[in-house]
Amino acid sequence: MIQIAPSLLACDFSHLEQEIRMVEKAGANVLHLDVMDGHFVPNITFGPVIIEGIRKLTNLPLDVHLMIDKPEKWVNNFVIAGADWISFHIEATTEVGKTIKLIKESNKLAGIALNPDTELEAIIPWVKEVDFVVVMTVNPGFGGQEFIKEPLEKVRVLNQRDIRVEVDGGVKMDTLPIVLSAGADIIVSGSGIFRTLSPSETIKNFKEMSENVKTL
Ligand code: DX5
Ligand code: ZN
Repeated sequence: MIQIAPSLLACDFSHLEQEIRMVEKAGANVLHLDVMDGHFVPNITFGPVIIEGIRKLTNLPLDVHLMIDKPEKWVNNFVIAGADWISFHIEATTEVGKTIKLIKESNKLAGIALNPDTELEAIIPWVKEVDFVVVMTVNPGFGGQEFIKEPLEKVRVLNQRDIRVEVDGGVKMDTLPIVLSAGADIIVSGSGIFRTLSPSETIKNFKEMSENVKTL
């Protein structure tokens, strides 16, 4: 099943609870939460305290995307805060095996993310160890950037193997078809959902399009 994961980065944080209710009602499968540290990426967002608050507001799985240096130091804090899925960047640590182990030992789903310019080869030794791979289709750091299509080749390759693939960055109604036909399993979208006239209609349209997908 293809899962739709709205990224709260683009939501109205002054109405966080209403935003979460809206995406739940519209049929979102997962909440994508972007954690940025101002080191690995040139932006700062939120950390475990906010995620702990979000945990109290919903039963949807929380997909925590760590864009932070040395993620191995922080995995436990995010587990305690209530994360269900935890992904980290291959570029952010030399302790890849240890980080995966920490996540899995806490019975959470582990994901490994890679930037648009990072070769797929970098993560190949780890794909059997993780539950999903996050293929970035923007350079991490900000919502609302333009979709980069070249990384979809990685999605096509991963799709040949038995691994769930999440696509993150610049996914909107107009880019969704090529993302789906490349074989994505989890669709992240921030501004492509929250910055539309009716975010709940957009989620429904994302779902409808995902149900009709044919992989090329
Ligand atoms: C980018 C983040 C994305 C971002 C997506 O660094 O990892 O999850 O929220 O936002 P859009 O869909 O607006 O590109
Ligand atoms: Zn993300």
